[in-house]
Amino acid sequence: PDRLGDMPSAIWWAAAMLAKIGGDEIAPATTLGRIIAAITVMLGIGCFALPVAILGRGFYEEIRRRDFVVTFAMVARVPLFSHLEAGSIADLVSLLRARTVPGGTTIIRQGDRGDAMYFIASGAVEVASASGKVRLGEGDFFGEMALLSQEPRSATVTAVGATDLLILDAEDFLRLVDRLPDVGTRVRAVAQGRMDATMHA
Ligand code: CMP
Repeated sequence: PDRLGDMPSAIWWAAAMLAKIGGDEIAPATTLGRIIAAITVMLGIGCFALPVAILGRGFYEEIRRRDFVVTFAMVARVPLFSHLEAGSIADLVSLLRARTVPGGTTIIRQGDRGDAMYFIASGAVEVASASGKVRLGEGDFFGEMALLSQEPRSATVTAVGATDLLILDAEDFLRLVDRLPDVGTRVRAVAQGRMDATMHA
């Protein structure tokens, strides 16, 4: 009572204990006191953890909002898939992930291992390799070469402005090529053309 006689000094003591900035000279002496203090400390930490969790959740939601929903129409607009029947397009809708990247984002770095290929739903990217720069736009795809050849990425690809991408993971791509051979043939033809262009540049 002589040290923690009123509410303000008790509150200050509790805050100082929790923040570890003081309070060592006053500590619970009895077992019951220590149990109560331990519970109080846990609750105190909870008071801090709760707003942190709420804030963290807010950030997470905000970031997730940048990932738009892949729709049937979006996939059907990609020239590589536009000739497919509805069932195959519907399958692709569930395989493709969507991501919006701001301008200047490096999507693929030359020399990295390839783990996915990308379709441009809207926006544009710049492909930079030793042989120069090429711009790809809506409906184009990139990142297929490393998946087909199992070689490292042949170029660095950067978003020109805000760009909506549809992402196909490597294993889904290889399965797709197995199931739809003419998609595979077209992708291989484009990859071959790019390889030739790079070699002749
Ligand atoms: P990948 O090698 O997996 O990663 C870089 C990508 O850039 C590559 O696949 C192609 O999709 C793309 N790319 C490389 N060279 C060219 C080129 N000459 N023209 C257009 N795209 C290219």
